[in-house]
Amino acid sequence: MNKSDSYNLKYHITPPYGLLNDPNGLAFFNHQYHVFYQWNPKGTEHKHKCWGHVVSSDLVHWQRKSVALEPSEWYDKDGIYSGGAIVHNEQLYLFYTGNVVRDDGVKESYQCAAVSEDGEHFQKIGPLFEHPKGYTRHVRDPKVWRDHNGDWWLIVGGQREDMTGDTLIYKSTDLSNWECQGSFFEHDNKFGYMWECPDVLNFAENDIFVFSPQGLPEVGEYYKNPNQSGYIVGKLLETGKFSGNLSDFKELDRGFDFYAPQSFRVNDRIIMFGWMSAMNEETERAVPTIQEGWIHALTLPREIVLINGVLYQKPLPELQLLRLDGAHYKGNIRSGGWLLPSLQVEFIVHFSMLTQNFKMIIRNAVQIDYNSEENSLTVWRTNWLTNQKEYRKATLTNRLAGMQIFIESSSLEIFVNEGEEVFSLRYFLEDTEQRSVLLEAGDNEGEIKIYQLHECKA
Ligand code: FRU
Repeated sequence: MNKSDSYNLKYHITPPYGLLNDPNGLAFFNHQYHVFYQWNPKGTEHKHKCWGHVVSSDLVHWQRKSVALEPSEWYDKDGIYSGGAIVHNEQLYLFYTGNVVRDDGVKESYQCAAVSEDGEHFQKIGPLFEHPKGYTRHVRDPKVWRDHNGDWWLIVGGQREDMTGDTLIYKSTDLSNWECQGSFFEHDNKFGYMWECPDVLNFAENDIFVFSPQGLPEVGEYYKNPNQSGYIVGKLLETGKFSGNLSDFKELDRGFDFYAPQSFRVNDRIIMFGWMSAMNEETERAVPTIQEGWIHALTLPREIVLINGVLYQKPLPELQLLRLDGAHYKGNIRSGGWLLPSLQVEFIVHFSMLTQNFKMIIRNAVQIDYNSEENSLTVWRTNWLTNQKEYRKATLTNRLAGMQIFIESSSLEIFVNEGEEVFSLRYFLEDTEQRSVLLEAGDNEGEIKIYQLHECKA
């Protein structure tokens, strides 16, 4: 069945059909950006995982490639799970987890690699090392990098036998013999029961450890999604351990739908994609695009920058290529309301004076409330399964100065204060023609810019 305009995302990476989840294998190879993603081409359930593949020369316009990896060997027969990529000796290497359900029902995982000369056809290399002792079968999502000495490092998420989450680190000099160095980040506390999709981002002054812990209990306005993705700022040591003066864990995105992000570095920029979903199973099964044979999307690419130890996520400047020539509108926030020119829009609000509460209602479906006293933003949507209103809230460090909102027919990404916080979410409206944006600005002052964006589907 074809995707309808009602909910299709036209400038995000979506699956052609079937289910998409995590971004995988981000790489720049042969003059192109490569994005792979967890893909079930056979249906909209979490089964038959393969790696889908798209390429781009500008990170905005994507071209689909044939499926890159699919189950074929004894060590990956029940799914090609997540992992990263590296480029070495003019070859593109993919690292992934082979998922296996044995005939006796026992489940196993294998950390594997595959290699390609043309960036399109991959030769599987097979499992890289034995399953680590002291860990359950939940070991997955290898991410590899090379250090300045030329050594290779691989981190992989896992669950210890005491049911706590952890990340293991391995070292290699030749990409084939890997030696376990123990826990990447030594900790005694229980912080979730499994850590998925670990990643390390290197900056001059600090390093950042990103991971997706499962099973954190909700605390105040934090950890409200079924699973979280967040980061700790610290230092990557020569021994391969993450240590130093560590920050607390902070969620990367404060919206309803963000999980399992992955980053890559290209020309001194660190770029991250996430999976735009953090739904529980029931909510996921109720997503209306399932009727059209597809589900989920990746987020837009964000540049990650560290300013005085604080992580910012900025929409890539390349996304301005999406702006349709001449199709932009300017106005005052006191105008009361706008009619969106289409459902592919970038909506920018800049405040020049903000002393009172502010409210914005997008398509009569998503409401953004600013509380001036708290300097907090609350984003409301209606849950499409329960029909109940639900919210996510973040208190800002800096006074609210602006929001850059990427609107699609069924997704929003709200970048606050140039990336100090981001809210990513899906929403599904029955009245798919609804195009209003209503503003209650009080005596606040500021400017609005609306850019109509063009469609560039992968
Ligand atoms: C995260 C995740 C990964 C796993 C993949 C399977 O969403 O559970 O840990 O490799 O999805 O699709």
